[in-house]
Amino acid sequence: MSTDWSQWHDGYARPGSGLADRLAAVRDRIALHLDATAPDPVRVVSACAGDGRDLLGVLAGRADADRVSALLVEHDAALAARAREAAEALPATVEVRRDDAARSDVYTHAVPADLVLLCGIFGNVSDADVRATIEAAPELCAPGAEIVWTRHRHDPDLTPSIRRWFADAGFEELAFVAPEGEHWSVGAHRLVVEPRPLVPGRRWFTFFR
Ligand SMILES: C[S@@+](CC[C@H](N)C(=O)[O-])C[C@H]1O[C@@H](n2cnc3c(N)ncnc32)[C@H](O)[C@@H]1O
Repeated sequence: MSTDWSQWHDGYARPGSGLADRLAAVRDRIALHLDATAPDPVRVVSACAGDGRDLLGVLAGRADADRVSALLVEHDAALAARAREAAEALPATVEVRRDDAARSDVYTHAVPADLVLLCGIFGNVSDADVRATIEAAPELCAPGAEIVWTRHRHDPDLTPSIRRWFADAGFEELAFVAPEGEHWSVGAHRLVVEPRPLVPGRRWFTFFR
């Protein structure tokens, strides 16, 4: 990987980057999921979690954060450390694992999850890897689990294919937020078929930046 992902996170504070708006849309989905499932426990998995600001930001503002247990998988040591520090201040049970989120084995102890975050992945891997990840997604899911994902819409816009691949994999669309004049989008899909057991030893994607 050649991208400085710590520096990439600076974009959240840059006006006009769209990242802050995208983050707000992701956080909205997370908050809605927590509201809809209260007071039940919620298991969350976040792949390529960065500094975890989407989930951790929501949990920081909730009195019921203690019903959440989460696994955040992030490759970058500095970002994982930042996520860990933010998580330590919360009553939720959060494991931040510095590891390769593309490996199915990483999730063995944390699935099935009720909420799966695939944010900041689909714009950085090949179309075939996006599809493979979506096809494998039911392996991370509890019955009725929700997946929140992001993808830019630069030409050629892959989001129509992504939405179709989710449907083909047994998900129904809960939301697709794609504001006019912006390049980001946030999707939310719910598993409506039986989950599948996690297949060990698989690798779902490789970042190309
Ligand atoms: C575009 S950022 C998204 C971060 C976060 N999900 C967000 O939306 O703010 C992509 C993140 O994926 C991480 N990453 C890239 N390849 C990875 C891999 N194989 N396993 C775990 N993390 C990876 C990068 O370090 C970076 O933090």
